[in-house]
Amino acid sequence: MIIAIDGPAASGKGTLGKRLAAHFGLRHLDTGLIYRAVAKSVLDAGGRPDDVAAAVAAAQALDPAGFDETALKTPAVGEAASLVSAIPAVRTALLAFQRDFAAKPPGAVLDGRDIGTIICPDADVKIYVTATPEVRARRRAAEYRAQGKAIDEAGVLADIRKRDERDQNRAAAPLRQAPDAHLLDTTHLDIDAAMRAAIDIVEATRAGRGRD
Ligand code: DC
Repeated sequence: MIIAIDGPAASGKGTLGKRLAAHFGLRHLDTGLIYRAVAKSVLDAGGRPDDVAAAVAAAQALDPAGFDETALKTPAVGEAASLVSAIPAVRTALLAFQRDFAAKPPGAVLDGRDIGTIICPDADVKIYVTATPEVRARRRAAEYRAQGKAIDEAGVLADIRKRDERDQNRAAAPLRQAPDAHLLDTTHLDIDAAMRAAIDIVEATRAGRGRD
């Protein structure tokens, strides 16, 4: 089984992806980490994330086995990832790895921006996870505070709006809800309630009980 989860920054799709994979005994790939790793590699080499040649070279040299999640999940790397991910040749360089990951038995949960539309258009279940920008900013700020980082929630909200705008309006694989994706709005749900709703979607789809 392949489960495709897409949604904007800080919508909760990563946590849901991880938990759904554990629940259904599937492998999990947070595809945002791939774009973050490309961006970090460009930044670490002193380059700019909108430098096409540098970003494509970093994507081609990527070693997905060596991700350091903590180092990748910073606001600066997220912003740079949004820039490198708008480069079509970067996306092309990362496509086969994602499709191969999804195809290996027993299947996988992939979360990102274009999983249901481009990477796995034939996924068994597609979920589009969203929440208002304000709620996403509050959650992201709480995560940073829990890590002991001083954070300004208004700044986090401004970053989220900027990334939404860029991720939704780029020409290459923009963030979109696939026509056959189930919408899961987590604005008023905590993670346990969101997880129950996601499991219901997967089970209803598997049982062939129609799509909403
Ligand atoms: O989900 P995230 O915040 O870790 O993603 C970081 C950036 O990577 C995001 O702004 C857009 C990009 N991305 C993408 O273009 N396609 C994906 N499948 C996943 C992430």
